[in-house]
Amino acid sequence: MQKYFLCHYDALSEGQSKGFSLGDNTTGTDNVFAVMKGGEIYVYSNICPHRGINLDWQKDQFLDPDGALIQCASHGALFLIETGECIAGPCSGDALTPVPVEYAQDGLYVLMPE
Ligand code: FES
Repeated sequence: MQKYFLCHYDALSEGQSKGFSLGDNTTGTDNVFAVMKGGEIYVYSNICPHRGINLDWQKDQFLDPDGALIQCASHGALFLIETGECIAGPCSGDALTPVPVEYAQDGLYVLMPE
């Protein structure tokens, strides 16, 4: 695993999502995203288990209109923010891939496969 700096704490806001391009990412799109809910920060790979493509069509837009669930923009799959489990849509029962988060004094770090 490789440790990467994700962001400073003030880069994330409650109920918002944000995408990041980390490591050896040559896709031109964000490869991970973070969501803050209830003061906790959840980070997942930006890959929908349905077709293996990015979840977002617009930068930093990973949530449904209510901000209650993670939503895939392609076919509307809905995922729990806390666990990444798909609860509705074509990949129901599958889950997003979580990215471990470390809380440090200068901000958030994530651990990604090399
Ligand atoms: S690619 Fe995400 S729901 Fe189809």
